[in-house]
Amino acid sequence: MEVIIQPDAAAAAKMTARLIADAINAKPQFNLGLATGATMEPVYAELAAMNRRNEVDFSRVSTFNLDEYIGLPPEDKNSYRYYMNYHLFDKINIDKKNTNLPDGMAADEVAEGARYEAAMKKAGGIDLQLLGIGSDGHIGFNEPLSSFASRTRAKPLTPATYRQNSVYFDPPETMPMRAFTMGVGTILDAKRIVMLITGAKKAGIAAQAIEGPLTSMVTGSAIQLHPAVVVVLDEGAAAQLTMREYYDWVFAHEPKWKNYR
Ligand code: F6R
Repeated sequence: MEVIIQPDAAAAAKMTARLIADAINAKPQFNLGLATGATMEPVYAELAAMNRRNEVDFSRVSTFNLDEYIGLPPEDKNSYRYYMNYHLFDKINIDKKNTNLPDGMAADEVAEGARYEAAMKKAGGIDLQLLGIGSDGHIGFNEPLSSFASRTRAKPLTPATYRQNSVYFDPPETMPMRAFTMGVGTILDAKRIVMLITGAKKAGIAAQAIEGPLTSMVTGSAIQLHPAVVVVLDEGAAAQLTMREYYDWVFAHEPKWKNYR
């Protein structure tokens, strides 16, 4: 794992967008795993700006989102399909046919999980998975105690996640209590992972995921099992990391980071 700390959330989002764009430029036929949430909005704004400046081309990119609320149709403004269209897909040169999310309206939940897994496999697997982290440590919607071997499935959300996300719903009680999510095992199959964590509120959970013990109580800690992870944080989210000097040392001296400093 490599840990990169940027001065603020805007710089951390820009760095994340550059990592994604550089990976796509190195392999234009690219399968990109995407996340939603407030943390990702500036990343998508930057990717859209880079696309406008012809710095990254999405014409041969396929995307697979981590999760979708169960019971929300694509046109619902709180669905993750709507979020993705609004924040990214409508602003870049991607073919919408190549954008994938679990179908929140699927009648057969088990079959929908299997369909989504098969679609990723058929595409050749995820080249880079973008991750955020929830206040309860979740990645995707893999709530505490989700197995590290879990695959795409329906998952009941925790009260903490409900409190975190229901602010976007009007009234808040209309937020679904369940979602489809890639499993932790699905996420760990990605060839590379880039996790973005911003804000002082996430400092404690960021330290647990990055430096804490491996535990399904914090599913974000599963990234420690993956051989190719970069975590990008702002100063606020990095505040409780104990190995800070080492992270900065690596970023300052490793040749691979020369163009990002
Ligand atoms: C959503 C997802 C979640 C979010 C997490 C953080 O697709 O993957 O794990 O990354 O809930 O959300 P924000 O960024 O809103 O704090």
